[in-house]
Amino acid sequence: MPWHTLNTHTINLKAKLKIINIVGARPNYMKIAPLMRAYKDFDGIDALLLHTGQHYDLKMSDKFFDDLKMPVPDIFLNVGSDTHARQVAKIMTGFEDVCDKEKPDMIIVAGDVNSTMACALVACKKGIKIAHLEAGLRSFDRRMPEEINRVVTDSVADLLLTPSPDADENLVNEGVGIQKIFRVGNIMIDTLYEFLPAAQKSGILDALKIFPKSYALTTLHRPSNVDDVEVFVKILSTFNEIALKIPVVFPVHPRTQKIIEQNKLTYLLKNIIITEPLGYLDFMRLMSESKFVITDSGGIQEETSVLKIPCITLRENTERPVTVTEGTNKMIGNDMEKLLHFASEAISGRWKMSKIPDLWDGKTAERVIEVLKRVL
Ligand code: UD1
Repeated sequence: MPWHTLNTHTINLKAKLKIINIVGARPNYMKIAPLMRAYKDFDGIDALLLHTGQHYDLKMSDKFFDDLKMPVPDIFLNVGSDTHARQVAKIMTGFEDVCDKEKPDMIIVAGDVNSTMACALVACKKGIKIAHLEAGLRSFDRRMPEEINRVVTDSVADLLLTPSPDADENLVNEGVGIQKIFRVGNIMIDTLYEFLPAAQKSGILDALKIFPKSYALTTLHRPSNVDDVEVFVKILSTFNEIALKIPVVFPVHPRTQKIIEQNKLTYLLKNIIITEPLGYLDFMRLMSESKFVITDSGGIQEETSVLKIPCITLRENTERPVTVTEGTNKMIGNDMEKLLHFASEAISGRWKMSKIPDLWDGKTAERVIEVLKRVL
């Protein structure tokens, strides 16, 4: 789909556009960091950075700000963890006050976490324009909280900045006017290309006493995999079988750690190399040198596709289908036979051909700025 002319009548014309950029949870930082840098070359924008505090542990937040050289947030809402309704409510009330004080012309939200949807809803009710980065992705599975967040955010957004053609199609099918849709590419890949050289200097492989291309890397935090103990035990047991053939490295998300402790499952981790959640550079180094990855994350499906690392995804569906059709991703749900099979394939170096999707080229932030310039 070509780039479209934005309907400038709907946007407040001013000398400088005041934009609040929102981060809240771990996957947001690598999507907003390239934009915060790109604004510096363009003085038409007064850009503020707001952190909701949805993620707050040093390893889930501050470490990423350091690794990605992000500015200290101008505004911090400090909401912390809670049930979804309470967390969203806290973000909304906090952000409403911010909007009243700062009077932004636009907010930019990224991805599909609770902070994304909560801030978009507030801005929409206040008549503040909303740009959604990573718009249009759909798993068509409303059991995922992220799917609800995606659908709601896109339905109120004014600028839908998409990473791939399937996202454009999803939006058009939902009745979004094509004048609002701009395919800019995958902004997270800007961060990957920028920081890969720095990641190569990480000492994480030495620290874990492992060697390039001689281990598997896994991450797991989705409710569908870790909340049902029977399913979780089955997955961890299979990891143990894989660990007989190749070392398995597992940085454990705080949510997953809690479930391990509550259910006394540490005995299933004896043969696995466990770490705390890692910062961006250490994790990127681990991922780029791994033989293959087993995950339920969204972003890792994309990053492995760009790095050409085989990826086995423990989910029934994906909102990122190009990682399957063009990238290195295989979806296997909770089928442990398939996990063992594809792990063996990856260990033997047999994997499908792949290509990097269009516009996943490290230049997405520049294209976003071009769109914003047109708005101005
Ligand atoms: C959130 C996102 C998910 C994303 C994931 C990446 C939503 C609905 N989900 O899930 O899409 O893939 O982030 O990490 O927004 N916790 C801590 N320390 C922290 C943050 C969380 O210990 O800094 C623990 C708390 O017990 C908390 C639990 O993790 O209750 C879940 O955190 P939450 O932000 O609600 O969701 P995630 O599972 O992290």
